[in-house]
Amino acid sequence: MPMRTLLLLASAALVCTSLQARAQQAPAAAPASMPRPWMNTALSADARADLLLRQLTLDQKIQLLHGTGDPHDGPEDPHAKDGNSGSGYVPGFPEYGLPGIQMDDSAYGVAYSAGSGRYSTALPSNLGLAATWDPAVAERYGSLIGHELRDQGYNMTLGGGVNLTREPRDGRTFEYLGEDPVLAGTMVGHLIQGVQSAHVIGHIKHYAVNDQESGRHAVSSEISERAARESDLLAFQLGIEIGRPGAVMCSYNRINGVYGCENDFLLKTVLKGDWHYPGFVVSDWLATHSTVHASHAGLDNEEPGNTFFDTKLKAAVTEGSVSTAELDDHVHRVLRSMFAAGIVDDPPQKGVPDVFAHALVAREIAQQSMVLLRNEAHTLPIDTHEVHTLAVIGRNADRGMISGGGSAQVDPPGGNAIGKIDEKDKKADWQRAVWFPDSPLAAIQEHLRSLHESTRVTFNDGSDLAAAAEAARHADVVLVYAYQWQAEGIDLPTLALPDAQDAMIAAVAHANPHTVVVLETGGPVLMQWVHDVAAIVESWYSGSKGADAVADLLFGTVNPGSKLPVTFPLRDQDLPHPALIEPPPASQEDWTDTDRMSRRLLAGLPPFSVRYDEALKVGYKWYDAEKKPVLFPFGFGLSYTTFAYSNLRVEEGSEVTATFTIRNTGARAGEEIAELYSTMPETSGEPPKRLVGWCKLLLQPGEQKTTTVSIPLARFSIWDEAHHGWSVPPGKYALLVGPSSATAALQQTLNLKAEPTGLTPTH
Ligand code: BGC
Repeated sequence: MPMRTLLLLASAALVCTSLQARAQQAPAAAPASMPRPWMNTALSADARADLLLRQLTLDQKIQLLHGTGDPHDGPEDPHAKDGNSGSGYVPGFPEYGLPGIQMDDSAYGVAYSAGSGRYSTALPSNLGLAATWDPAVAERYGSLIGHELRDQGYNMTLGGGVNLTREPRDGRTFEYLGEDPVLAGTMVGHLIQGVQSAHVIGHIKHYAVNDQESGRHAVSSEISERAARESDLLAFQLGIEIGRPGAVMCSYNRINGVYGCENDFLLKTVLKGDWHYPGFVVSDWLATHSTVHASHAGLDNEEPGNTFFDTKLKAAVTEGSVSTAELDDHVHRVLRSMFAAGIVDDPPQKGVPDVFAHALVAREIAQQSMVLLRNEAHTLPIDTHEVHTLAVIGRNADRGMISGGGSAQVDPPGGNAIGKIDEKDKKADWQRAVWFPDSPLAAIQEHLRSLHESTRVTFNDGSDLAAAAEAARHADVVLVYAYQWQAEGIDLPTLALPDAQDAMIAAVAHANPHTVVVLETGGPVLMQWVHDVAAIVESWYSGSKGADAVADLLFGTVNPGSKLPVTFPLRDQDLPHPALIEPPPASQEDWTDTDRMSRRLLAGLPPFSVRYDEALKVGYKWYDAEKKPVLFPFGFGLSYTTFAYSNLRVEEGSEVTATFTIRNTGARAGEEIAELYSTMPETSGEPPKRLVGWCKLLLQPGEQKTTTVSIPLARFSIWDEAHHGWSVPPGKYALLVGPSSATAALQQTLNLKAEPTGLTPTH
């Protein structure tokens, strides 16, 4: 049985059986001359949805509320033949002009396209995108994905992951946008805008508090309402408000004991109630657990099959346990999102993506995402007039760069750079590391050639410490490429680098102090050698053109300007949960890695809980509150130039405005992300400070700019459980402006009056 099947759930047989039953119901044919008032583009998406809804029979309505099976598992539904080989398919009604919904995973590019002989560009990981702190880059990122989805015949993404990094060992950290809800929510909102600009249904996931992979079907995330509203849910709320995605994916886990896809509080009270969300809720793959309960709670569409939302839902409607109004609401939401995204009026036309232009976009976004963490004695950028020998060291650093795995996996052109992993085709296996054929060594050599430099480059794979140290000793500068692989379904046991790379880096750094470490990691890692190396670049998973982008940065063709969207802690023990909370072992037998992985994921594990008692203290808020030193703080990142901050003026009105000046005090042009944090009144019970805004400025050498950042009052608000709403606690605040969460270059106090901001903390 394919791994993917195993990993999703053990009930594929059951799904197939009910899909066969479904095959007997053919929708009634509509007369060819039938008027189609819902095709009137002057009407609102809601009005169009209502007009079409009135036309549909019960069977047709039901058909819109479930999928046709996972194509990877060999679906049985006869409609499935019209699917596009993506992650999911909901058939439409050609007789009404309604296309089917062709869904595909596309977190950092269109996933798994090799099996259909298609090409996809891999962008940097979502966490890398977050490091740009740039909404315009997020739109560009989303737009590229939207266009490549269309080129491949898809009209709905399954990207948009925005679970907060409460647990950085989460195997999907690379798929999310970091630890701060305002940064993550803003960035995902703009990413969704970009996707939807290509007339593709946008999507946000996994709702909610799906913050680890271990035992994801069995775990209950225990969290207070206030903590959830001000952290994980706030990221969704902002993302939805900014991006207006057509769909929200409910998560595998339970939240305070109730599964995400039948969680009345999350779906009905919060999402569709408080936030007035008009789109549809789609289940994560095999995350539906009931019919009537899930329907009442607000699930609209079961994916990828039809176990609960097909014949069982029809029976529930017929016998009255699900009302027609409730059924119609589900259908209305699906139709409305289809009209709103433009997939009815402008269906995708298959085509060849603009591979070359997209490669350039991938390279530019990668350049903008990499964070310079350390740069002693101006080791970087490498001065080729002085550096005559470079040693490139690291496993696979002559072959490729690593990528994030799981359902987000983008297939590399030509297959895995370290050898084909699937005999039958060049498709990536779901849970094995895939390296893009993007050789750091070749990129360095190419870069030097383009500069007409004769710098000598040697390579060593780092497997033999003595040989690696020897190679380092003979070079003027050493470039170590170190990796950490993350994938859906497997959390990391530790944030330490795997495969004895710490010892290798230490040996190399001991042999040559001019050692630069380039990290290819999904999220934060530990660095016991941090003080022994000259420079560190965090390149994340950098996509199709990552190696070139790293070279651009190392040689100074580009000046780094990104900042960390997550804290890099000093030790695992400093995390809110010093050890990963894993499901209790299912048995005592000695599991193989594969068994271990699948058992961690499969349903049927005994329920267990992760108590998020750190509550509001996520990421930097935790380290601040607990006064724990960190390796690199949230918001940190260096440039090849330097900046000075001055003249802060803060004014309060219907919003708070902060005006300040930044000057480029160095010798080259560079971008600075200025970050604005606020402390909260002591009585508010909040962590020491929170991000309330930021701005990114490009400055020429010597140039200074004065800028004003407007901060909605809502940014200062807290969730009041007793009054079921947000309000600004009255009292004294300090507004801090500076280059990272750890450094306030400027500060000014302000006094805010009590201000209820209602149910929406977002404007
Ligand atoms: C993942 C989702 C993904 C879905 C479809 C699930 O295993 O959790 O993020 O969209 O599969 O591939």
